[in-house]
Amino acid sequence: MKTRRGRFLVLEGLDGAGTTTQASRLCSWLAARGRKAHLTAEPSKGPVGTGIRQILSGRLLGTGGAPFDPRALALLFAADRLDHWESEIRPNLEAGVDVVSDRYVLSSLAYQGVTTGDAPWVTAINGRAPAPDLTLFLRVRPAVALRRRYAATAEREIFEVPEFQRRVHRAYGRALGGIVEAGERVVEVAGEQPVDRVAADVARAVEKVLA
Ligand SMILES: Nc1ncnc2c1ncn2[C@@H]1O[C@H](COP(=O)(O)OP(=O)(O)OP(=O)(O)O)[C@@H](O)[C@H]1O
Ligand SMILES: [Mg+2]
Repeated sequence: MKTRRGRFLVLEGLDGAGTTTQASRLCSWLAARGRKAHLTAEPSKGPVGTGIRQILSGRLLGTGGAPFDPRALALLFAADRLDHWESEIRPNLEAGVDVVSDRYVLSSLAYQGVTTGDAPWVTAINGRAPAPDLTLFLRVRPAVALRRRYAATAEREIFEVPEFQRRVHRAYGRALGGIVEAGERVVEVAGEQPVDRVAADVARAVEKVLA
């Protein structure tokens, strides 16, 4: 008997929007419903993703200590995504396991769209990454997202600049419009609510793609 393909569900939002919290909650919710669920994140744990994490934390720099080239980083994100898809996402979906990813293509459209200043190119280099069954965008104001991040950790990543976060927020808005236009399924969730309320809204949206 052929197992039915699992669902591919993606959590998106600004740094501090709660994607990690909600991705984990969603996995637990799926498991509680008797489904097999696999939690993953981008950058992935694969070789390219590991390199990206080192670049984001500032441990890995460009030649001569210069900041890493944003276009090269955008290509690494796109490469990591295909590797992530082939090595982890697709095999799970084919085995009937739901995959919940903390970030995917939309993150690149927003973040790399801003850092490269060339959103159409970022869209193009991610053109081979299969669309999720559902993208959940956690809408949180940049100031709220930033406050949460600063309260949570002392670690500072290169993306944590207030003006940068505002630009990414606007880029997310444009990118959301683009993927909706392309026929992808996206649901926006009010991310400033308490964790349980956000989780309930996420579950309600996911229920529709499980039917
Ligand atoms: N709905 C919420 N209300 C209040 N605080 C929240 C909510 N969701 C998450 N938090 C808190 O905000 C912080 C960031 O949450 P989380 O790590 O889930 O966000 P993220 O979007 O994954 O951010 P990051 O950019 O750090 O990966 C954590 O301390 C978390 O406990
Ligand atoms: Mg996170």
